[in-house]
Amino acid sequence: MHVGILTGGGDCPGLNAVIRAVTLALINEGGARVTGIERGFLGLLTRQVRALDADAVAGILAQGGTILGTHNRCDPFHYFGAGGADVSDQAMAYARELGMDALVAIGGDGTMSIAERFHMKGLPMVGVPKTIDNDLLHTDRSFGFDSAVAVVTEALDRLETTARSHGRVMIAETMGRYAGWIALEGGMAGAADIILLPELPYRLEAIVERCREREARDGYTVICVAEGARPEGGSMTVATTIADSPDPIRLGGVGALLQHQLQPLLQSEVRATLLGHVQRGGSPTPFDRVLATRFGYHAAQLARRREFGRMVTLTGADISSVSLAEVAGRTRPVPADDMLLAAARGLGVSLGS
Ligand code: F6P
Repeated sequence: MHVGILTGGGDCPGLNAVIRAVTLALINEGGARVTGIERGFLGLLTRQVRALDADAVAGILAQGGTILGTHNRCDPFHYFGAGGADVSDQAMAYARELGMDALVAIGGDGTMSIAERFHMKGLPMVGVPKTIDNDLLHTDRSFGFDSAVAVVTEALDRLETTARSHGRVMIAETMGRYAGWIALEGGMAGAADIILLPELPYRLEAIVERCREREARDGYTVICVAEGARPEGGSMTVATTIADSPDPIRLGGVGALLQHQLQPLLQSEVRATLLGHVQRGGSPTPFDRVLATRFGYHAAQLARRREFGRMVTLTGADISSVSLAEVAGRTRPVPADDMLLAAARGLGVSLGS
């Protein structure tokens, strides 16, 4: 059996752990030949591939990023960007020329959409859910999320030091795109006083009120705001747009905006820190290394059993899979009845509403 592997979308801690697990499991248990496609689906068009074996994946478990490189703008069905040409036949032809029996695509909702379309065209696909945002449908966790939350937690611990010492309001802005998972879990782990999520539009007055209450008592406040958070009746803060990207909007800047809105209304000094790509870089946590390894092993099993058109999932403690059609292009926001959200409210954390 000859299996290809590619990593699509943004880099993420744990990608290399999946590549390693898929490669080793296929070689050891299936005697398969494994080929890495470089820079996501782009490698199928530019014909950039490399052989993967035990030596090629040695020592990469703990490495952040992806040894194969990635691309978040290459969709062969819209090359490049919406309205772009459909060059998927060219990619299919190259996969066939390589004699590929299956292709494992590791990525987020965009990558799963492309994988689903290739699967429908006849390229046998297996998906592995990757994103620090944890916003993929039908999986409790995507690998990378735990590592991002660990960074946010440490950042909040450090920002609290300055907040407490100076009596300041310290704002940390997290990633997460249109979902608040990173801000919610990171904010709770880092004991934020106020957590703002895209799913719960905030009222500035509610934030001011909580900061003033705290000014009156112990004098400092830590705010954890998701990049997608927005005021009631307002819109998200866009940092930039990437014209030829399938998902052109890049969020960012709501933390700085809040700083400028809050400062005139409070006595304390207000400061904002944009955590940015620091959340996506570096070595995966032990949880993510294990999850990525379990995902990779299961993806290899699906390929060997020829159960194609599926994405591996985590439900509770179980690794399973769902059809790519059920996850393609769909995301999972924090639901209104989320239990951690209820705990936040119960503990008196302000959600800005
Ligand atoms: O989807 C992962 C993510 O890091 C989001 O949290 C963030 O909005 C986006 O990617 C940033 O993308 P880029 O690396 O293109 O700026």
